[in-house]
Amino acid sequence: MGLLAFFRRRDTKDNTKASSSSGNKGIIKKTEPVVVDDRLRHIAFIMDGNGRWAQKRGMPREYGHVEGAATFKRIVRYCGDIGIRIVTIYAFSTENWRRPQSEVDRIMSLFSEYLDGAERELEENKIRYAFLGDKMAFPPEIRERMRALERASVKYDLRLNVAINYGARAEIVRAAQELAASGGEISERTFAQHLYTRGCSDPDLIVRTGGEMRLSNFLLYQAAYSELYFTDVLWPDMQPSDVDEAVCEFYRRSRRFGGVEAKKQHTV
Ligand code: FPP
Repeated sequence: MGLLAFFRRRDTKDNTKASSSSGNKGIIKKTEPVVVDDRLRHIAFIMDGNGRWAQKRGMPREYGHVEGAATFKRIVRYCGDIGIRIVTIYAFSTENWRRPQSEVDRIMSLFSEYLDGAERELEENKIRYAFLGDKMAFPPEIRERMRALERASVKYDLRLNVAINYGARAEIVRAAQELAASGGEISERTFAQHLYTRGCSDPDLIVRTGGEMRLSNFLLYQAAYSELYFTDVLWPDMQPSDVDEAVCEFYRRSRRFGGVEAKKQHTV
């Protein structure tokens, strides 16, 4: 199937952009947003660049996280609109506690505000939430709210994994410990069942904003065959059209999973 098959016309404001390539300066052309198929079920984001975005504007880094949190909600909604089934987002790593206390506090208050909104708009958003990471680092009230949201949203289809106090190495060690303690069979299949992402297919595409080209302890086990896409766009500036670009690039890649022919993957 050709790339064009993944485009359809939809009249949304978000997806319009000015085009001067035709020579008609100032004419606004509608672009056609992508629609994904089964080859792109799971997309993961490393939302980097919040601090730089704020500093470029002479604002404290925290302001970038405020904008970043708003962008996060918009991008998740857009991913659902184009047919993505699973979105995983790296919100806070096990290493991020090393940041200045004021910045950590602001991120945590944004997270709490995010939970408020998710609870309030549960039926409207129709998102199935999962919080990946060690919940024990959070106060009991926040832990209980995360668990309650996970329970209350199981009926919804769009799965959103929020990685918070998440580190891939810690996740792998924890899975190994659990598996060893269980005394059960150790295989790739059973191991995956002890990861925070259990029940999810591996990310097909991992997008990192902010210009850095590394995984920074994110989904190290699950990323074995993920396509990686790096963009200089700073996370608060991320637009649906930037997601479209990443998706188009994904469809240009030939995924062979170690074989010689492009393969269609997978199943949840
Ligand atoms: C990376 O940018 C961003 C973070 C470490 C935190 C992201 C947190 C939020 C967007 C808000 C809270 C989360 C939710 C789920 C609402 P950076 O600060 O490392 O950017 P820089 O590389 O420019 O310094």
